Amino acid sequence: MIYLKTPEEIEIMREATTLVSRTLGEVARWIAPGVTTLKLDSIAREFIRDNGGRPACLGYEGFPGTLCIEVNETVVHGFPSNYALREGDIIGIDTVVEKDGFMGDSCYTFPVGEVDPKVLQLCKTTKESLYVGIEACRPGHRIGDIANAIQTYCEHRGYSVVREMCGHGIGRSMHESPEVPNYGRRGIGPVIRNGMCICIEPMINMGSRNIVIERDGWTCRTKDRRPSAHYEHTLAVIGDHVEIMTTFDYIQEVLTDRFI
Ligand code: MF3
Ligand code: CO
Repeated sequence: MIYLKTPEEIEIMREATTLVSRTLGEVARWIAPGVTTLKLDSIAREFIRDNGGRPACLGYEGFPGTLCIEVNETVVHGFPSNYALREGDIIGIDTVVEKDGFMGDSCYTFPVGEVDPKVLQLCKTTKESLYVGIEACRPGHRIGDIANAIQTYCEHRGYSVVREMCGHGIGRSMHESPEVPNYGRRGIGPVIRNGMCICIEPMINMGSRNIVIERDGWTCRTKDRRPSAHYEHTLAVIGDHVEIMTTFDYIQEVLTDRFI
């Protein structure tokens, strides 16, 4: 069941999508070699609470953190830990904020210091594919059109698309229908329509698309341990217009010349 939102509900959801965007901007200030991912997690948790939100990942089906931490080969759902970031790492930070009853979900993959240009290119292409997916998200078109656009963009550039994890609908819950895959055929899947709110989140690998789940039951990494990148926005369809409700502007303000 796809819950279509009224313009009033989407207006309320703006609180959550803005706060999650600001949270990633706050975390961006702290990303540097030597910083532990637990430190980033506590920065985010306090920032969200100080701004009237609830860290929605924390405790979700037992997830132990505010942030999902995705270092190098980690694809999604890594735990914050005492791992200290190293020069040359990439770190995806994925988080969900609830405010005023609605959710906002966003992810950004950050470079830590100087990063191998090949790995930076993976990040750049993954981020571009997010916007290619957003471009394909139009009222009257179908979810498969988004999926196919992302897959085509990434595979033509020599990368592979993780199949097991998808984007999703969002609203009062962090995961609602429909599923929004990053691969598949055009013209299939639900029709995109007024009031739909979805998250598009390509998870793209440098090597093979295969993943494994670690014994903690959550951490998803590439099977070949080559790097993976991940970017995510929350979108709303308002009439015949598609609005990107989250923004990377707060991150860009912090990273300035390092923003890719
Ligand atoms: N954006 C992530 C997702 O859609 C958030 C997961 S929160 C967690 O899967 F608690 F499940 F990790
Ligand atoms: Co998501």
